[in-house]
Amino acid sequence: MKYGDFINDGREFKITNVETPTPWINYLYNGKYFSTISNNGGSISYIDNPLHGRITRYRINDVPSDRPGKYIYIKDKDSGEIWSLTWQPVGKNRKNYNIIHGFGYTISESFVNDIKGVLKFFVPQDSNREIWRGELINRSSRKRNLEIYSYVEFSLGHALVDLINQCDDQHFNRVNFDRELNTLFATKTYWVTENFGTQQQENQAWNQYVFFNSSLPIKEYETRRERFIGFYRNENNPVAIEKGHLSSRDTDYGNAIGVLKSEVTLQPGQTKGFIYNLGVIPKEKFNQIKESEVGKFLETDSVDKALRQVKDSWEKFFSKTNVKTPESDLNIFMNYWIPYQAKVAFDVGRVASYYYWGIGRGFGFRDTAQDTLATTIANPKKARQRIALLSRQMFTNGKVYHHFYKDGQGETTQHCDDPLWFILAVTDYLKETGDFDFLKTVEPFLDESKGTILDHILAVVDYIKDNKGPNGLPIFGRGDWNDTLDYIGGNGGGESVWGALFFIAMLNELIGLLEFIDNKHLAEVKNVRDQLKKNVQKCCWDGEWFIRAIGNSGKKIGSKSNKYGKIYLNSQAWAVISKVADRNKLIKALDSVKKHLDSEFGPKICSPAYQEIDQNIGLVTRCVPGKKENAGVFCHPTTWLIQAECMLGRGNRAYQYFKNMLPNRIDSDTFTAEPYVYSQYITSDANKEPGKASHSWQTGTAVWMYRVSIDYILGVRAQYSGLKIDPAIPAKWDKLNFDRYFRGTLYKIRIKNPESVQKGVKEIYVDDHKIEGNILPVLDNKEAEVKVIMG
Ligand code: GLC
Repeated sequence: MKYGDFINDGREFKITNVETPTPWINYLYNGKYFSTISNNGGSISYIDNPLHGRITRYRINDVPSDRPGKYIYIKDKDSGEIWSLTWQPVGKNRKNYNIIHGFGYTISESFVNDIKGVLKFFVPQDSNREIWRGELINRSSRKRNLEIYSYVEFSLGHALVDLINQCDDQHFNRVNFDRELNTLFATKTYWVTENFGTQQQENQAWNQYVFFNSSLPIKEYETRRERFIGFYRNENNPVAIEKGHLSSRDTDYGNAIGVLKSEVTLQPGQTKGFIYNLGVIPKEKFNQIKESEVGKFLETDSVDKALRQVKDSWEKFFSKTNVKTPESDLNIFMNYWIPYQAKVAFDVGRVASYYYWGIGRGFGFRDTAQDTLATTIANPKKARQRIALLSRQMFTNGKVYHHFYKDGQGETTQHCDDPLWFILAVTDYLKETGDFDFLKTVEPFLDESKGTILDHILAVVDYIKDNKGPNGLPIFGRGDWNDTLDYIGGNGGGESVWGALFFIAMLNELIGLLEFIDNKHLAEVKNVRDQLKKNVQKCCWDGEWFIRAIGNSGKKIGSKSNKYGKIYLNSQAWAVISKVADRNKLIKALDSVKKHLDSEFGPKICSPAYQEIDQNIGLVTRCVPGKKENAGVFCHPTTWLIQAECMLGRGNRAYQYFKNMLPNRIDSDTFTAEPYVYSQYITSDANKEPGKASHSWQTGTAVWMYRVSIDYILGVRAQYSGLKIDPAIPAKWDKLNFDRYFRGTLYKIRIKNPESVQKGVKEIYVDDHKIEGNILPVLDNKEAEVKVIMG
């Protein structure tokens, strides 16, 4: 590939041409302290959440882009040459740089002016800081006198207030250098905690102190941006480095930065290691613990140990599902990069990336509920905690906050699908763990009463019953999964056909649970489901596919009678998932997807693209054709299409879609985004620039690709009573291996496909004993050998 490729069995992605078409980033975090890092050194850091706890600045939509970041400048004192240990910000000698993104760490390698530089970035698991571990090696035959300048630009608290109220907000920035502790400290004496952009004057200081220090002696330092960079320059060529002198003055206002200057001398062949720490200390404990905190992680031993821990914890996560298909590129994605992205999305919560600056919204309810599926297999405890958090965003009538912050703030909207994702998260967790006691856990509703998790689920059923339109389908409100179908039926509501299909699918899940635990609400829930099913069957089939919605005047959307948006992907995929019709109809629906939506770059979300604004449909019609929800290849729903094809037993087609959607499939100059993770969408052929991806990393695509590829292509999925084996694979695969943990046992599943079928299991042996049916029992053993013969 032109810009880089997987190395080290796929565990790392090495960027060998660092001038990538967009910043290609990675995530470094421990669950509290978060940082992104790009191939340019561009970076955002925050504690807890990117809106209220922003540590360093990142400039939105600015040029040069992807600035600022975490920089180390080197100056050769004798020649006056200046470069940086990541290619940017100085931006010279591009060919002499590489970037390696691994799981939880990133390494920049450089070879400039005969000095080899290595810089590793990571966040240790149990301390709220990021560590930059550097090394300089003198590969020349002369002695080198080098200056090292480390650079960060501070935000210090509420990121949006920092942007919109710059002139005033900066009067509260305090940065000072503590000579005794060889450490720079920064904080703000004012802090807004509202979740929107505001100039509200709260009577409090930011609750953190930032510290920035080094294992090297600090000769000089700087705290104000203009003094370091110069007013009419940028990070490429700071005036202070050119002069070789920093003011070493503290600051109590202004654009706050941290620069630490050290000097090293390197004999020919000599190596010098150094470490920087950028971290936070809670203000309430600052005086007691600052000395011990700033003294940590300044030696290579402790730093290397901390990095090993990060790597081990990712290996542990990956070890719970490990596949060997006949195709090595699939294995790299399925074993590492898809679960990695899924877990990052779960932990980060779709709020920070190159595209999301973490200032607009908190955790989305539906997104978070789906992201839970990323961790149910490998770390079900985390899923349980997250589901409990979700349950606390619900009202007694089953409505939920659309967006929420972990500190209790939230926003209600009229999106009709939100609450139902809760059912999916809970049933997925219970199937994986068998932890039915969880249903008895009591959690508060938002309107103050309390209830068990089961009560929360049943509240969702009430919500379903209470929100039906004239055709007995869910009232659309301000959107369903698709946020841009927001004016279906004008201001009045309209009805969501996809919503009905999704509700049925979720009710099927719930019915499965209630049957298993023999619950008294079973009959009532079945009733609700059956009624919805009848309503869909009555009015939603359009001859060759299912329509998408019904407007207030009865107008169909996603119908052949429309000029634009005649057919939508989601209705067809979820018709299959919800099992709403007979097989022939479902096959016809998916064949219509193939015929009308599939394209070179993947299946489009709808087609034809809207070319005219329709007030009674909404945002989708305002969006440029071929992008995002307006007939773009929106990657998230393509996962449901893959699931649906598997459910109908068409392994070949499921595989083709899966393979076609891999992020490294399109050449990088066209695709532009990272080839190691999914993007939210790919521009389709309804636009002049097809194949261009955007909104990488933070998308539900990852978690669904992870689970659909395991649960439906490999076909190994948890049930309440055991582990189901139901592969839907391409006929050309003659065998595959899959190791999967399930309730304490490692099932080593060896699948053979001697008759080249796409679906169907003939025989299964567990530890050489043939079993009836295709559900592996829950075992006491630590390990079990499972032989599966398809046919
Ligand atoms: C974005 C949103 C997600 C929504 C999707 C489709 O990805 O985060 O919640 O379902 O767009 O509109």
